[in-house]
Amino acid sequence: MSSAAELSGSSAEPGQTADRPYPQGIPEATVARLPVYLRALYSLAERGVATVASDELAQATGVNSAKLRKDLSHLGSYGIRGVGYDVEYLVYQVSRALGLTQSWPIVIVGAGNLGRALANYGGFITRGFRIEAVLDSDPTLVGGQLGGVAIRHVSELESIVKGHGIAIGVIAVPASGAQAVCDRLVAVGVTSILNFAPLVLNVPEGVDVRKVDLSIELQILAFHAQRRVAERYGQATDQAAAEV
Ligand code: NAI
Repeated sequence: MSSAAELSGSSAEPGQTADRPYPQGIPEATVARLPVYLRALYSLAERGVATVASDELAQATGVNSAKLRKDLSHLGSYGIRGVGYDVEYLVYQVSRALGLTQSWPIVIVGAGNLGRALANYGGFITRGFRIEAVLDSDPTLVGGQLGGVAIRHVSELESIVKGHGIAIGVIAVPASGAQAVCDRLVAVGVTSILNFAPLVLNVPEGVDVRKVDLSIELQILAFHAQRRVAERYGQATDQAAAEV
């Protein structure tokens, strides 16, 4: 499979417009769906699928196909009637819209269970991210290797961020230390933060924070599971009542 960077030289295919910026901008809701399309497209590309119909892509992503076509039209991608979208070119277009045709340097702060799992995950590199540094305050961890990157002491945060032009900071420390880490990242110029710690970070205007909370996702799943059980139970009691 080609990476986004390798695809950056692609030229426009028939039925798709040439490279151009997004004159009307891309709606925020569309931006939120683009990574979902990208994940499905990577999976198609990995299976050697060359073209995909909007209906198939819609099904693979759980997005209604009219909405998907509209989303992709914001990128100047319209597909070809009866053929669909060229998968590799669409990977390039979505990657370009998300700013992934360049590689983004990341720092992970916190080399505990979560930081280690993130640093050892090899998938970021093919998706446009490169882990430049992993930092921790525990001197017994400093000097160890994680996913090919040495763990450095968090006291080096400022010099590492400046030296590597870090664009994105990932916070994987306990909640008690997260705001202080965030403040240091922001003070040294990081404007994009992915926060795993269970607290709401205070940041100045112009800094984007994304919070990841797996327990919220599990709670949503629990809600749906509970509803399905209630529906099944309701059907069973309705049936029993009808049989009486
Ligand atoms: P952990 O205790 O295994 O690791 C935390 C690491 O942070 C330790 O190595 C510690 O030395 C380091 N640390 C503490 N204060 C620091 C500071 N000021 N600067 C630099 N390093 C510091 O914890 P784990 O399991 O890796 O979790 C990390 C964070 O992620 C916690 O806040 C936890 O609640 C959160 N978490 C969030 C999840 C989610 O779904 N959002 C899932 C799992 C964990």
